[in-house]
Amino acid sequence: MMMKNILSRFDASLNGLERRSRRRHLLLAGNALDFSSNDYLGLSRHAKLLAAVMKAVDDGVGVGATGSRLLRGHHDEHAALESQAAALFGSEAALYFANGFMANYALFTCLPKSGDLIVFDDLVHASIHDGMLAGKAKTVAAKHNEVQDFEDKIKAVRADGLKGQIWIAIESIYSMDGDIAPIAELVEIAKRYEAFLVVDEAHATGVWGEGGKGLMQPYEGAENIICMHTCGKALGASGALICAPKIICEYMVNFSRPFIYSTAPSPLAAFTVSQALEIVQNEGGQLRQRLHGQVTLASELFAELGVETSPTQIQPIIIGGAGETMQMAKTLQEAGFDIRGVRPPTVPDGSSRLRITLTLNVSEQDIRDMVDVLRPLLEARNG
Ligand SMILES: Cc1ncc(COP(=O)(O)O)c(C=O)c1O
Repeated sequence: MMMKNILSRFDASLNGLERRSRRRHLLLAGNALDFSSNDYLGLSRHAKLLAAVMKAVDDGVGVGATGSRLLRGHHDEHAALESQAAALFGSEAALYFANGFMANYALFTCLPKSGDLIVFDDLVHASIHDGMLAGKAKTVAAKHNEVQDFEDKIKAVRADGLKGQIWIAIESIYSMDGDIAPIAELVEIAKRYEAFLVVDEAHATGVWGEGGKGLMQPYEGAENIICMHTCGKALGASGALICAPKIICEYMVNFSRPFIYSTAPSPLAAFTVSQALEIVQNEGGQLRQRLHGQVTLASELFAELGVETSPTQIQPIIIGGAGETMQMAKTLQEAGFDIRGVRPPTVPDGSSRLRITLTLNVSEQDIRDMVDVLRPLLEARNG
């Protein structure tokens, strides 16, 4: 029997993306210099981390958890990591998930309830959006990093008679813009309105704040603060830690479906994160100092090119059109620099960009060389 072409609608969608220069393809990094990963401290291949993991394998640490955390999948390595993370970040408890996307999704589908309101920053990550979409609370966007707008949105729903719990959702450093949230002010607002403040520290953990503990370091441990620390970025491993009051973690163990109905992350992954946290504690100061030196250098060089810079290791260069952005990324890749273009819907329409990140996987000379290739590309655009 001849089937009608059951794949044609998918093909049509992909062709639609192609026409708008938005079709995504998988691209191997190859030998190109790393200007696009989130391996900010270069820990993914850190000699001590690799040696510790090899020893753990020799010692018999399992590569698979073999079950849900609530069944036989709960291992010493998970328990040890969660205690270590809570002590380090200053929260009462911590819960380890397989990745940051799942941690955010688990959190936003589980904790806010029907009748609650989540005020979220316009630019929060897709995983927070998906969690909110699948959850039951009402949601409203606040303008990016505009404290007054967060407060206005809260006041408006209170004036409308909303009695439920208020939640505020932000990132501490925004993944596509590299800018920093007005954390102290939002902590104050959260206090004033007895709101929970949920902070995605994905791009701050390991790199920012005292001891690399993230920008929420002064506030973690308060009963209305929940932080999500990813382990696949500066920690060079994988997974994510929700750091929160003990009762919140216990609630998630009982009610969070992605936590309950899923095989736990491998004990080896948990062990790897533990070791990465040790490295951050023991040698992080030196690593961060080098990284911050690179941020300063890149900012200076970009400023000379007339590019607006961010204060962090994420330095986006906004180009605008998707096609032009991808063409520039390709030219840089061909010159040996792994720089990726980011297009809508990941970023707003008309703001396609080169998302350049700084990591200890490259040297200061590499940064200068990259800027030398970038310069004529930007000059050609500016005519
Ligand atoms: C801000 C932010 N939150 C969450 C995530 C998801 O984390 P993970 O890569 O561990 O799934 C990312 C990574 O893309 C991110 O940038």
